[in-house]
Amino acid sequence: MPTSIPVLIDTDPGVDDALALALALASPELSVRAVTTVAGNVDLATATANAAYLLRILAPDREIRLAQGFAQPLARELVTAEEVHGSDGLAGITSHDRWRRSSTESLDVPADAVDVIIEEVGTSAEPVTVIALGPLTNVAAALRRDLSAMRRAAAIVVMGGSLHAGGNVTPHAEFNFYVDPEAADLVLASGLPVIVTPLDVTHQLAVSDETVESRLLSLADPRGAFLGELIRRARAEQFTGRGGKLLLHDPAAVGTMLWPELFTMESHHLTVDCGDGDPRGAMRPTTDDDAGKGRTAAQVAVDVAADAVVSRIVERLVAGGDKSD
Ligand code: BDR
Ligand code: CA
Repeated sequence: MPTSIPVLIDTDPGVDDALALALALASPELSVRAVTTVAGNVDLATATANAAYLLRILAPDREIRLAQGFAQPLARELVTAEEVHGSDGLAGITSHDRWRRSSTESLDVPADAVDVIIEEVGTSAEPVTVIALGPLTNVAAALRRDLSAMRRAAAIVVMGGSLHAGGNVTPHAEFNFYVDPEAADLVLASGLPVIVTPLDVTHQLAVSDETVESRLLSLADPRGAFLGELIRRARAEQFTGRGGKLLLHDPAAVGTMLWPELFTMESHHLTVDCGDGDPRGAMRPTTDDDAGKGRTAAQVAVDVAADAVVSRIVERLVAGGDKSD
């Protein structure tokens, strides 16, 4: 029996992506095998530089494979979210004196994320869970390229979509599904076990209390100080939340793996609107037999014990610096 679940994290950092990475790295239940980057919150080069920078700060003693993937969605122009995450994707922390991101940070990162996903999932003795925190472009491309290797995945855990909560980029669509609806639909139609963490849950999970950042900032461990400064900036700039609220979208997806008992799940056959009209990117349950055919029902988080999840995330981030592999 493995002592921890092997995971691969596909991400577009992103303030909340950074917190999700920190949470996964601080969690002994998970073993982060690889990180792959995708264009989304920021362009691919920035997302990749951010992922390299985050691994350097948050996992300085670990060798974690990093690869970059798609710079564009499968069939559309990229839409980014600098107005939410800042022009560097990380609320401006990368130009802070103590936490400066070097211009060479991502120079050596190979551009074979899709192959890395297929290899990690397809060759692991223990089934790997893919945690997808950005547009699903890389994951969908991996499914297209080698479905039989990808069938070895334990699950694909997705932050994305909205069941009844409305959208956050349009009235209908959540950002990750809006950016690459074709990829999201392909993943939901793949027949693999998919766990979806939509806005219905993530809108309930917010850091709005300044004691969180001050606790982190007071830690001697540089990782804690970094996360405290990141949260302080995100809340102060009001990039990621409204009225000083930082929403924990991507950490919630990691949370479904760590504390499933705190989430209420429903089973739904899901589709994503791939048109160009208003509903672009909207996620819908389907009862239609044809639309549902071949789609395994996804497990969708519809409710959450919000206070408990937020406090467990915070405690993990605070304790994270003490964890060693
Ligand atoms: C999702 O969109 C991004 O801005 C966040 O990082 C998260 O993955 C929330 O809709
Ligand atoms: Ca993200």
